[in-house]
Amino acid sequence: MPKEKRGAQAPDEYRGREQAYIKHELLKAYLQKLFMIIGMSASRLGIREICYVDGFAGPWSSTSENLADTSIGISLSILSQCKADLSKVKQDLRFRALFVEKDKKVFSKLNDFLEKWNSQELEANAFQGDFVSLLGQIQEWCGTRAFVFFFLDPKGWKDVRVDMLSPLLRRRQSEFLINFMYENVNRTASMVDWNEKIAALLGEPVDMSGLDGSSREKLLVDTYRKNLKRELAASESRPARSAHVRVLDRKRERPKYHLVYLTSHPRGIVEFMQISENLQQIQKLVRAATKQVARVTRSGQNELFDGSDLVDLESGNVGNEVVQAYWLNYLAGGDKRIGEEQFADILEQTGWFPGDFQRALVRLIEVGAVRNLDAKGKRPKQPLHWKDGERLSLMERSQ
Ligand SMILES: C[S@@+](CC[C@H](N)C(=O)[O-])C[C@H]1O[C@@H](n2cnc3c(N)ncnc32)[C@H](O)[C@@H]1O
Repeated sequence: MPKEKRGAQAPDEYRGREQAYIKHELLKAYLQKLFMIIGMSASRLGIREICYVDGFAGPWSSTSENLADTSIGISLSILSQCKADLSKVKQDLRFRALFVEKDKKVFSKLNDFLEKWNSQELEANAFQGDFVSLLGQIQEWCGTRAFVFFFLDPKGWKDVRVDMLSPLLRRRQSEFLINFMYENVNRTASMVDWNEKIAALLGEPVDMSGLDGSSREKLLVDTYRKNLKRELAASESRPARSAHVRVLDRKRERPKYHLVYLTSHPRGIVEFMQISENLQQIQKLVRAATKQVARVTRSGQNELFDGSDLVDLESGNVGNEVVQAYWLNYLAGGDKRIGEEQFADILEQTGWFPGDFQRALVRLIEVGAVRNLDAKGKRPKQPLHWKDGERLSLMERSQ
């Protein structure tokens, strides 16, 4: 039975820009998780300082006094909350934030806001100017020892070319969340005159002739990710990794942008994909509500009892049988221990969600095709505890 729910509207301040709500929910959930994980292992990692850099800060289309509906307000409140929570467990880290904004008028709003905000608890600075021209100063501000999360959310795509970002990508102890403006890139990529510029953005030329919509999307996003990863500071034991989440147009069935995430830490990929999975459900509910409001406005008739706003929360996910086949093939060579790294590899390689893998395993264990050699007792929902590095085994009759 598919899980179904009614649509749920985005908060009022996001009306008309629901996709920004999805972006902000991801930022909020991931930053919180990341800073707490880094903070809790700070002594072991030798980290004394955590920084957040917003390369295209705004404030942009905000309707709230405290900028709670912008990446500025969201990041500052998450940083303060994490600092306070970490202090309670005697992890006293320094937290800093940097916001870069090119437009003078917008910058002055940003600056006014930060002046009110600045506190002993959390240092927040702002640079006015072009993000790319300021890269040297941004790196200086970061220093070499802090852990830094970079959020790059430009209006277009020309300022996040792989070669331009390369000096930042090479910085160790860094993670990135980049808004890849897929809708604009896809439109421009069809124009011959723009081939060179698109190749510069992606890090190499692409040939899209004869490809259908979803193959074009995959080629553009995967090429961009592959070349960003090539530049990312990494090592043999900690290779560059990337994941992404697809954000749809608020009304139409097509992607608006992809949020591309880069890290060299396997845990980052698993957490990011978990958050993306939850977000996908929120996205479905918000889109259903947005469409319903549009229908009601058009027709003038209330739809309270209309079933068309019921959302199948699992639609669009990869099919359970496809993931089962993946597991059977994965385990065909013998028993496998699946810990953080292996699970991150699997998620990165397929782009499927953690829940997709757990649901397929539930079924395979139920029919006796696979066994978790380390599980004691029944686990109806999460048969694999990847944090514990458990072993999965193919049962004889399915080998
Ligand atoms: C999409 S908005 C940012 C939205 C914000 N990140 C949020 O989520 O609330 C992009 C911002 O980047 C600024 N901008 C555009 N080009 C820039 C550049 N080259 N360097 C720095 N800022 C730039 C724009 O003025 C705008 O305020």
